[in-house]
Amino acid sequence: MQPQNFDVNSVIFKNFNQPKLQPFDGTLASSWQSPSNIALIKYWGKKEPQIPMNPSLSFTLKNAFTETTVEAFYSKNNPSINYRFHNQPAPSFQEKLEKLLVRIKDYIPFIQHLKLEINSQNTFPHSAGIASSASSMSALALCLCDIENQLFSNLNKNDFFQKASFLSRLLSGSASRSVYEGVNIWGYQPYISGSSDEFSINANHLIDPYFIDYQDSILIIDDSEKKVSSTLGHSLMNNHIFAEKRFEQARVNLLDLLDAMKNKNEDEFIRIVENEALSLHAMMMTSPKPFMLMKPDTIKIIEKIVEIREQKGLKFCFTLDAGPNIHVLYHKNIKKEVDDVINKELIVNCERIKRLDDFVGCGPTKII
Ligand code: DP6
Repeated sequence: MQPQNFDVNSVIFKNFNQPKLQPFDGTLASSWQSPSNIALIKYWGKKEPQIPMNPSLSFTLKNAFTETTVEAFYSKNNPSINYRFHNQPAPSFQEKLEKLLVRIKDYIPFIQHLKLEINSQNTFPHSAGIASSASSMSALALCLCDIENQLFSNLNKNDFFQKASFLSRLLSGSASRSVYEGVNIWGYQPYISGSSDEFSINANHLIDPYFIDYQDSILIIDDSEKKVSSTLGHSLMNNHIFAEKRFEQARVNLLDLLDAMKNKNEDEFIRIVENEALSLHAMMMTSPKPFMLMKPDTIKIIEKIVEIREQKGLKFCFTLDAGPNIHVLYHKNIKKEVDDVINKELIVNCERIKRLDDFVGCGPTKII
């Protein structure tokens, strides 16, 4: 159920009012850097068309981002897409992208008269346990909205980012949360004004600014390709025996987390964040076709984090994405202490484990 005054077409209809695309000479270009994000309340389970089964909340990251450039040339009846990754042809990504663009073509109808040259690069290794679809799909959506604005000047700043989030969501759900800084919520929640299943909203005003200074040290335990894709994982929630309970748990956790973040209750923040991470993986392990993405080192490190927190009273915690890698979350005030713990106690003797340091960031940046 959506709020009474919500008009799903407020974003969408703008395109149906668009004048027909006039032929143009030369090239239109847009280039955006868009960050990845780490979910604290997890999106796991969806229905058509890319509607989440529960609302989710994330930190937008800073250092892990995709930079995408789109060049557009007019071509009346012969549209095409040429996708390159790090300036190299990438046939498998291109094929995937062509399928994904079908989901958004009605909202950017002008692309049927364009030849698009797209080039993307990531600042972090592919499959490194960082949601690359969130950064890459949001960067692409931002470029496409920018091209739309260059053609029709129809989107003000708010509409621009709302539409970018809307298109990002259709491409990859978690990407909808990457178009804004800080803390973002995707999914309708009756008590959260403006929240929607169609796009994300920024939630910085709902929390204490203390949490905007949170750090995320990502411990990469295994960077091989995921054996179960997120898309398949989501679909396994369809006939999951615990599905309804899980969606309810996420809704309750979201409100409790917001309460903890508003009141700077870090113990409660830690409890909920870790509960969400383990619940996500519990869903995987108890799904109709069970699978496990955690590795022995994931469990060892989780146990150490909990043990050290209890011993030293250090307020740091873990979360997990759909993979074995651990995101260690903590406030910047205890960066030095957590650094020491990570180096001396968490990854000591584990040469295989790589570490990427990130923190809550200020959202996407336009390059061209
Ligand atoms: C575990 O956004 O990758 O990272 O919508 O099918 O592209 P699609 O899925 P995706 O799912 C992300 C799942 C998650 C949790 C989260 O980011 O909320």
